[in-house]
Amino acid sequence: MPDGDTRNVLEVKNLQTVFGTRSGEVHAVNSVSFEVKPGELLGVVGESGSGKSVTMMSLIGLLPSPPAEVRQGEVLLEGEDLLKVTPARLRDVRGGEVGFIFQDPMTSLNPVFTVGYQIMEPLRRHMGLGKKQARARAVELLELVGIPGAAGRLGDFPHQFSGGMRQRVMIAIALACDPKVLIADEPTTALDVTIQAQILEIVERLRRELGMAIIWITHDLGVIAGIADRVLVMYGGQVVEQAPVHPLFNDPRHPYTRALLKTIPSVSGERAAKLQVIEGQPPILGAAPTACPFRSRCPLAFERCHAENPKREDVGPGHDVACFHPLAQTAAEETA
Ligand SMILES: Nc1ncnc2c1ncn2[C@@H]1O[C@H](COP(=O)(O)OP(=O)(O)OP(=O)(O)O)[C@@H](O)[C@H]1O
Ligand SMILES: [Mg+2]
Repeated sequence: MPDGDTRNVLEVKNLQTVFGTRSGEVHAVNSVSFEVKPGELLGVVGESGSGKSVTMMSLIGLLPSPPAEVRQGEVLLEGEDLLKVTPARLRDVRGGEVGFIFQDPMTSLNPVFTVGYQIMEPLRRHMGLGKKQARARAVELLELVGIPGAAGRLGDFPHQFSGGMRQRVMIAIALACDPKVLIADEPTTALDVTIQAQILEIVERLRRELGMAIIWITHDLGVIAGIADRVLVMYGGQVVEQAPVHPLFNDPRHPYTRALLKTIPSVSGERAAKLQVIEGQPPILGAAPTACPFRSRCPLAFERCHAENPKREDVGPGHDVACFHPLAQTAAEETA
């Protein structure tokens, strides 16, 4: 694909993020590349510590440096490299062209300002709205995310809202400036299932209505199956597989993806019985990887996997995998 492909709203190329720690470097994100098209929902999955959050925070300069250092890569937002822009431009992008929602709204919302102020502030700063217009838009946004009696709640502080309502406020703030890309990092895992479903519905509707691209990070493959167009599977700070949602679930090629799919509880009555865990430990991230990060847990690993880190290779349309012997379709079918 040529540089700065305009069909992609966001292109991340060879991103590398390293933490300096007392016991040495931690290579948390290794050569991560992906694209997002306008209006597309990209799901990002992978177990705890696989680098999902660090990747997304690296994109918009949200990691404190030190200890973090984005050492290499390009983050092209409609062709503009966010790793090269001034701090002032980056602040404009955050909450402007790129909106984000994180898991815990209590840490993302400021407890000392009213919710109304927190929604109106970006509207005034990024969109140049006057006080009255910003107020009207804030009410509209709170209504959009399903907050009852929106106009009467602008003067309330975050602690006066329930967890689910705070999450909605976060979404309203993230959406305030009509972002081109919305990054949602496990925004629903702390919520109960009905509220999760409502929030997913809101996000899905907004994507349809506003055409924004969404990056949705989650542990929950069930959620991904329901809403994503494409899925990125991360392991040990790397992308190990990328595919449109259907092939990802029906024809997974990386042994880790296959193992991950087996951990989904079945929808029938035998949830516990069918639930499997992936044996072994996730890799301890340290120096830059020189071997496949999944090798110690992989049933198919052979010498080459211990000596070399496989690169992503195409195995189908929009489908690539970083494995020296990607599973054949038949192998995936066997386990279905
Ligand atoms: N400040 C830090 N110093 C050193 N290492 C860090 C720091 N922050 C994160 N890491 C490491 O970066 C790696 C990736 O972490 P990250 O938070 O991106 O994982 P994740 O995939 O988002 O996990 P989870 O699903 O639990 O949210 C982890 O191994 C973590 O230990
Ligand atoms: Mg995370």
